[in-house]
Amino acid sequence: MKKLNVLLIAGVFISGNLFAQNNARIKIDIDRQIGEVNENLYGNFVEHLGRCVYGGIYDEDSPLSDENGFRQDVLEAAKGLNVSLTRYPGGNFVSNYHWKDGVGPKDERPARMELAWARLESNRFGTNEFIEYARLMNTEPYFAVNLGTGTIKEAQEWVEYCNVKEGPYYAELRKKHGYPEPHNIKYWSLGNEMDGFWQMGHLNAEDYSKKAREAAKLMRLTDPTIKLVAAGASNFRPDSDPHEWNATILAELKDVVDYIALHMYVGNHEDNYYNFVSSPLVLEERTQVVKGMIQREMGKANRGNRDPIYIAWDEYNIWYRWRQSETMSGERALEERYNLEDALVIAGFLNAFVRNADIVKMANMAQLVNVIAPIFAEKDGMFKQTIYYPLQLFAQNMYGTSLDVFVDCDTYNTDEFYLGLAEQATQQTDVPYLDVSAAYNNGELVIAVVNRHKDKAIATDLISQEGLFDGEFEIYEVNGPDIKAENDFDKTSVETIQKESVKVSQAESFTYEFPAHSFTLLKGKVSATF
Ligand code: AHR
Repeated sequence: MKKLNVLLIAGVFISGNLFAQNNARIKIDIDRQIGEVNENLYGNFVEHLGRCVYGGIYDEDSPLSDENGFRQDVLEAAKGLNVSLTRYPGGNFVSNYHWKDGVGPKDERPARMELAWARLESNRFGTNEFIEYARLMNTEPYFAVNLGTGTIKEAQEWVEYCNVKEGPYYAELRKKHGYPEPHNIKYWSLGNEMDGFWQMGHLNAEDYSKKAREAAKLMRLTDPTIKLVAAGASNFRPDSDPHEWNATILAELKDVVDYIALHMYVGNHEDNYYNFVSSPLVLEERTQVVKGMIQREMGKANRGNRDPIYIAWDEYNIWYRWRQSETMSGERALEERYNLEDALVIAGFLNAFVRNADIVKMANMAQLVNVIAPIFAEKDGMFKQTIYYPLQLFAQNMYGTSLDVFVDCDTYNTDEFYLGLAEQATQQTDVPYLDVSAAYNNGELVIAVVNRHKDKAIATDLISQEGLFDGEFEIYEVNGPDIKAENDFDKTSVETIQKESVKVSQAESFTYEFPAHSFTLLKGKVSATF
C-alpha cells in the first residue's frame, strides 16, 4: 500500500496505511458492478385510503390548497422526495374501483361505498386530477387496473382513455373532458395483491394468470408501448404459499409482463430494536429467491427483444401500530407515526434495493401522505416524518452503477421474530452492524451506511480498491436523540444534517466514525489511479 499524506479533519482520519486494528472496513471497488440504479427505485404510492387523497394531497376546502384543491404545502414536501413514479389509485381500493366513476364533471360523479377501507368515495378526485397532480409533482403516473371486480374490457378502455390520441369513443371522451392530448401512461399493474383472500375478487394463481394475460392482450392491442406489472405474492403468510404463487404466475405470464410486484410491510411488534432493524435482510432474501425464479423462466420465455422481467417492490414500509381493526378503516385509517428506528429500517430497505439493482428496477414507498407515509398533514399544516429523510437522501443522490461493496464489521444474531402479524417467523444470523450500499457515476461515488448499533459509534476505514478518493466528501446524516425519537408539527427531532465535509487528497482510504443508530450518506469523487 502506498504511503500517503495523513490529514486529521474534524474527527476524520485520512491515511495511507495507518489503519487502527479494530476498525470496521468498507472496501469500494468501482470495477465490481452490480447493475444500473433505476430512478424508479424512488417511487411512491397514492391510494384512495383514509386521508391520503382527501385531506392529504387534495382538499377542496383548505386555504392551503390552490384553485384545483391541491394542498400546496403537501405538494412542496412531496416534490422534495424527487418521486420518480407514483402508483395510483390502489392498493386494495382498486379491486372495486371503476375508473369511469372518477372522470367527467365533478358534480355529476357518483358517490360509492368504498369497501376496502370503509369510506364513502365521492369520486371528486379521479384519473385527470391525479394526472394534473403528478405533472405538478414531476412524477411518472403508474396506474393499477381493477382485476378483482373489474373486467378486462374496462382495463382496455382505461388505456384507450389515457393513451389513444383520438378517434375511438374513450379517447374522444377524454378530449371532451378537457384533455386534447393523451396522458401516455407507461406503467400499468394488472390488479393488486390478487393472492390475498382479503382482495375483492381474489383469484387463485391459475385464474389470476388467465385474467391478467387476457387483460394484457387487450391493453397492449390498445397501446403496444405500455409496461405491465404482474401481482406477485403480497404476503408471506404461514397459511399461503408465496413461492407457489410467484412460480405459477411467472411461468404463465413469462412472455407477457415486464415486472413482478412484491409487497412487504414490517413492524417492531415485540419492541426488539435489533430484530426490527435486521428486517430489510428478509426483503433481500425474498428478492434473491424471486430472481432465481425469474431466471429459470427467462430461459424458456419468448419475449422478442424486450428486457427480462424485473422485480418491482411495489409497496414497502413499516406498518404495525395502526393495524388493528379500529385503525384499519374510515377517515383516519393507517395514520402511523414514525420514529428514528423506522427511518433506519427504511434506509435498510433502500440499501437492499440498490444492492440488488440488477433485478430490482422499481420500488414504491407506501404511501405518500398521512397513510403510512413520510408526510403528515392536518387542516392547518404538515410535517415531515422521520422516514422522509433517508428516502429523500437516496432519491436526490443515489444514482449510477450499483457496486458490490465488501463490509467487514461486528455482527449479531436476532431471536426468532415476526415481520408482520400474519407473516412467517424469521431469524437472522450474522447481521452486520454496518449496512452499506454504494453507486458510482462518472467519477462520483455515493456511499450509504446505516449503523445499526444502538449504543456505539463504529470507526470505519473506507478503502478504495481501484482509483483514489479525491477532493471533498459531502456527509449527510439522519439521526436523533434516541431510537424512539419522533417528529411532530412543533418538533423536528429526526432530520438530515449536513456534517462537516471530509477533504481527501488522492487517498486510498480514510477513516470515518459512524455514530450509533444513524444513517449516513457520503458523496465524493474517485479519481483514476496513476
Ligand atoms: O398500502 C396499504 C395496503 O396494503 C394496500 O392497499 C394493499 O395493497 C396492501 O395490503
